[in-house]
Amino acid sequence: MTTDSTTEQAAETPKSTEQDILYIGLDLGTSQSALATNSGLMVNTASVVGWPKDLISFKLHQKTILFGDECMRNRMSVNLFFPLEKGIISSPSHTGKKSEDSERKEAAPVEFIKYMISLAEPRENQQVYLVVGAPAEATAGDKQAIIKAAEGSVNSVLVASQPFLVAYGLGMYGFSLVVDIGAGTLDICRMHGTIPEESDQRTLFKAGTFIDDMLFDLLKMRYPNTQLTKMMARQFKEKYAYVGEMNEQISVELLLDKKLSRCDITREMKEACESILSDIISSLKELITGFDPEFQADLRENILLAGCVSHMKGLPQAIEHGLFELGPVKVDTVEDPVFAGAIGALKLCQDMPISEWRRM
Ligand SMILES: Nc1ncnc2c1ncn2[C@@H]1O[C@H](COP(=O)(O)OP(=O)(O)OP(=O)(O)O)[C@@H](O)[C@H]1O
Ligand SMILES: [Mg+2]
Repeated sequence: MTTDSTTEQAAETPKSTEQDILYIGLDLGTSQSALATNSGLMVNTASVVGWPKDLISFKLHQKTILFGDECMRNRMSVNLFFPLEKGIISSPSHTGKKSEDSERKEAAPVEFIKYMISLAEPRENQQVYLVVGAPAEATAGDKQAIIKAAEGSVNSVLVASQPFLVAYGLGMYGFSLVVDIGAGTLDICRMHGTIPEESDQRTLFKAGTFIDDMLFDLLKMRYPNTQLTKMMARQFKEKYAYVGEMNEQISVELLLDKKLSRCDITREMKEACESILSDIISSLKELITGFDPEFQADLRENILLAGCVSHMKGLPQAIEHGLFELGPVKVDTVEDPVFAGAIGALKLCQDMPISEWRRM
């Protein structure tokens, strides 16, 4: 299937099964979600749900609810609700009578997961098994909230650590450190030939959105009379993000004192992007030096960056530089940061014995 709000390619390992089961791997992300199915679908869209603001908006969209990229395109006429905050479903804080807003906030994760499952095109009477990626240090309660939101849409659901799923999808069962840098969280998982434990995982909250906020503040400080939004700061970041040294100057068009002007943002971009570096380096150091010294080199030489912030120019070199005191370091980036987690989730979904699913 194709909608203009989604992209679709052939999945890496399409497999048909004798039983009529649809296996889905879902990377449920703070800013975007991606899924892969055993029927060969791969789809991604923005993680957002929107309700038309009023009668005109309803007439315009002819829908009571909108999802994903369509929602973002129409953000002037719909009330947006983001199902995830910092990688998890936030629990409702209200008591007593609920306002329409709090009802929608609560409904958004369920509606969004239902929508994502519908993009996987389950056939009538087909069993649906789902594996979902969550932040590395998600609590039992965080995982339960995802399971609860998905329950009504699938027959069985399992939640696993997002960076672990990236490693699993790539068949990296041996020594490695996977760093998944998304919008809301930066998740690290130490792989060493067995199922990673809590002590192998880290979740940090300085990720893509943290950079957007900082870039926005820095630009507002340098150009106080400009019209700037956080979405614009995010778009600048997606185009020009870099760390380390760069010879070119970055300039963008901004409205300064109601006049379109070319503005230099090189220094601000560097400062905002580098603001997440020291935490990454110190967490990696901790996970390396806290490991059996005989195998630390195997970890250092197998660091893999995933998540879309891994596109940032100069990041692998900056991490290698930050860890060089420990010995030789090698940092690579996954080929497809949008789908790496979903593909790993699909692989785990297919590899789990049916008997295990039945026990859930
Ligand atoms: N070229 C780029 N350079 C830097 N950042 C980028 C680039 N492209 C996208 N991003 C940023 O990557 C983030 C989205 O990444 P990703 O899709 O991996 O996160 P997510 O899964 O939605 O979030 P999370 O994993 O934290 O729940 C956003 O902050 C986005 O602005
Ligand atoms: Mg993610």
